[in-house]
Amino acid sequence: MNSKKLMLDMTVTENTPLGSLYGLLKLVPTDGSPLPDIAAGQFVQVEVSDSKTTYLRRPISVNYVDYKENRLWLLIRKAGEGTRHLAAAEVGKVINVILPLGRGFGIDNISGKKVLLVGGGVGVAPLLYLGEKLKEKGITPDFLLGARSEKDLLQLDDFAKTGNVFTSTEDGSHGEKGLVTTNSAFDGAYDKIFCCGPMPMMKAVAAVARKKGVECEVSLENKMACGLGACLCCVEKKNDGHNVCVCTDGPVFNINELPW
Ligand SMILES: Cc1cc2nc3c(=O)[nH]c(=O)nc-3n(C[C@H](O)[C@H](O)[C@H](O)COP(=O)(O)OP(=O)(O)OC[C@H]3O[C@@H](n4cnc5c(N)ncnc54)[C@H](O)[C@@H]3O)c2cc1C
Ligand code: FES
Repeated sequence: MNSKKLMLDMTVTENTPLGSLYGLLKLVPTDGSPLPDIAAGQFVQVEVSDSKTTYLRRPISVNYVDYKENRLWLLIRKAGEGTRHLAAAEVGKVINVILPLGRGFGIDNISGKKVLLVGGGVGVAPLLYLGEKLKEKGITPDFLLGARSEKDLLQLDDFAKTGNVFTSTEDGSHGEKGLVTTNSAFDGAYDKIFCCGPMPMMKAVAAVARKKGVECEVSLENKMACGLGACLCCVEKKNDGHNVCVCTDGPVFNINELPW
């Protein structure tokens, strides 16, 4: 995989609101150049040029790369000023993006394995592209998607096209009622679990994986500034005592690397 980072102007070709809190942006390089190789689990740093208070780029997971149409998909949750501006980007707007960043999910030796992908809230974002990459390796993944309520479950149709979908909602409005960790999907025998979502959810999934003796990788969403390993604002302590930058050594880590 070519790890060269590019700074690209990208034009918004579609912006689809998903409920009141989320939006799906599709972007094409403005100069028409082909998108580079991007690994599942990598992220991009997006400039928010039209916000007077958002000085730093915002880290956003690669949701999907449509190489046929040369489109990069970003799933945005309106968390604050920066993401609100991104979610409001109109078709034709040009956004500057640095990509691809970070270390993605470990799928090199995954062939023939049974895999569960667990996502919570907007943490489902990198799992769609991961599912596609697994499909390319002949694996049909199981997705377990969790949210507070049905309206917070995102891209269900896209996930269903890529694998088998299980859902959990806290209010029981879709799938099983409760947290993802109590979902019957965990009764299945898996060789590997990949997870992205809120920290308490990832820790709970890691605990289940450990108990079952299943290998597990999680994608951390620490606050970031540079996204390039220079400012140290995203540092996480590993269980061997070493500090690592989530933006360059991660965001994906094997749970055995973390002191959880
Ligand atoms: C590797 C990675 C991948 C991510 N992928 C996605 C994604 O696919 N879609 C998505 O919507 N969001 C994603 N996020 C989270 C997103 O970066 C933050 O929600 C965003 O930076 C908040 O910016 P803001 O200006 O909207 O909010 P602010 O007004 O700056 O803050 C609002 C809230 O967001 C939190 N926040 C602020 N800055 C960051 C930051 N740099 N990282 C994490 N949290 C922050 C604050 O603590 C606060 O609770 C990802 C974060 C990381 C680190
Ligand atoms: S965000 Fe600057 S070092 Fe990671």
